[in-house]
This record gives sequence, C-alpha cells and structure tokens, in this order.
Amino acid sequence: MAQKIITTRDGSRSVFSDRFQQHYHNIAGALTESRNVFFDNTGLSRALAAHQEITLVEVGFGTGLHVALLECLRKRTGSRSQVHYYSVEKYPLEGDVIRDMKFGGICPGMDKIVGQIADELHGARDGNSICYTITGDQHPEDEESPAANPPPQGLPYTRIEVCRSDFHDWDLSVLNRKADFILHDAFSPDTNPDLWTVATFRKLMQAAGPNAVLGTYCSATRARAAMLLAGWHVGRVPGPPGKREVTVASPDENMLAAFKRVNEELLMDRFREEL
Ligand SMILES: C[S@@+](CC[C@H](N)C(=O)[O-])C[C@H]1O[C@@H](n2cnc3c(N)ncnc32)[C@H](O)[C@@H]1O
Repeated sequence: MAQKIITTRDGSRSVFSDRFQQHYHNIAGALTESRNVFFDNTGLSRALAAHQEITLVEVGFGTGLHVALLECLRKRTGSRSQVHYYSVEKYPLEGDVIRDMKFGGICPGMDKIVGQIADELHGARDGNSICYTITGDQHPEDEESPAANPPPQGLPYTRIEVCRSDFHDWDLSVLNRKADFILHDAFSPDTNPDLWTVATFRKLMQAAGPNAVLGTYCSATRARAAMLLAGWHVGRVPGPPGKREVTVASPDENMLAAFKRVNEELLMDRFREEL
C-alpha cells in the first residue's frame, strides 16, 4: 500500500496511516514533539547523558523514529548507556517506507538500521520478535556493523527487541528488568481506543519499575483517568508546538515533583464507573 510521507513543520518527516486516518506524528514538528514528550519530559535524555543503564518500553514501534532519536542523543552526549529497548507493533510498515523517512538526517546510518529492523518486522510472524543490537563504539554509519545478539559485555549498546503483536498479547516478562521509561505512543484515543484503557495502563504498570516515568503526547481527561485508575500518578506538562499540554505519569509521586498535577481524586471519581 502506498504510504503518504509528509515533511512536518520542523523539517522532520511523518507518514499518514490509512488504517487510523491519522499521521504517525505531530505535523507541527514530529522530531520536536518526540524529543520533548518522550525524551526530555520523562528524563530519558538526562539518563542517557548520565550514562545510566536504561530499560524502556515503547507502545507502538511505527516508523522507529524513537530509535533514531535515541541514537542521535547517544552520539551527541557521548552516552555510554547500555539500553534495552522493547517495543511492540501490530501493523508493521514496510522497510522502504521507513527508508523514505530519511532518518539518516537525524543520526547517520539510522535510515539503514531502522529500515533493516522494519524489513525483518514486516516479514515476522504474529507473536514473533526481532532483535537488533547497535554497539556504542560502532559508528552507526558503518555498513558492516553486525546486528549482534546478545549484546557484548561492558560496552555501550542499544539492544532493540520489537515484537510483532497486539499490545494486549505482548509478553512483557521478556524484559531484562523492570522498565525505567515508558513511551506511550499510540494513535489518539478516538481512533486507537484499545491502547488507552485501564487494562493497558495496568499492564504497563506491571512492567514498570518503582521510579518509572511514562510520557505521552495525549492530554485527554479520559486517558489520564485510565492511568490513575491503573495506579499511576499523573502530571501535566506544557506541550510542544501545536499542543497546549502533554502528560507524564509515574508509580512514584516524587518523580513528578517538577510538574503540575491533575486533580487525581476528582478524575477518578468522575470516571470510576465508566472506565
Ligand atoms: C502514533 S503511531 C507511533 C509510532 C512510533 N512510535 C513512531 O514514532 O513512529 C502508533 C503505532 O501504534 C501501532 N498500534 C496501534 N494499535 C496497536 C495495538 N493494539 N498493538 C500494537 N501496536 C499498535 C500502530 O500501528 C502505530 O504504528
């Protein structure tokens, strides 16, 4: 199926989903929003710059933009983090679409690497995962770089494991440890409601470490109520261009000290019966 790729207002690209009748990213700036919502608000950028070990869970691999952005930030900060990156995708895009996203402009070599991941994911059977490891000392533009698995000891690396599956069937017990960060990047609640339910956020809570931070571009009241009813605390953050506000959440209120908070009791009371 032909996919319509667009250039968003910050110069980065996105693609339109015929299935969901929505762009994969914010047309006011795909890269700007992703960096803001998933990397800066959550503390993932800081953890990378501080060379911390990181386990992250992404809901919706899509174009793989966040892999490219992660490697861009790793390079920029000289990060020696060992990153375990788990993602899920029910409707994989073709590798050629991903290569057209021109991720090499975000981080050299990432058009090829993410394109290869997409090729494998597209060819995978439902329920199967594909793994790819980018070693930190290996220059991403090195075409000969091996997709080693398991990752080498001691060196910086990003081990990416993407499962071709519906989120609700995804076995999150495969994580190397509980997640530090959750990138919740489904389509919007009106077109992709199955990923904004209490059950969704409960499943993510079970995968999350005690200090985990979840980031999402969505500020819908119902979505925030679903998070609260699943046990998350919820914070409000000013949004990137084109969005007034976005959301962060954590099992630990202290992780949200820098943010304004929603009225948790009020929201839970309002939606308890409905959700
Ligand atoms: C808004 S897109 C964003 C994807 C990605 N993070 C990116 O930057 O390109 C949401 C993704 O979630 C996927 N998705 C939707 N429903 C899903 C489900 N039930 N299980 C797994 N993936 C799903 C879609 O196919 C799409 O790729």
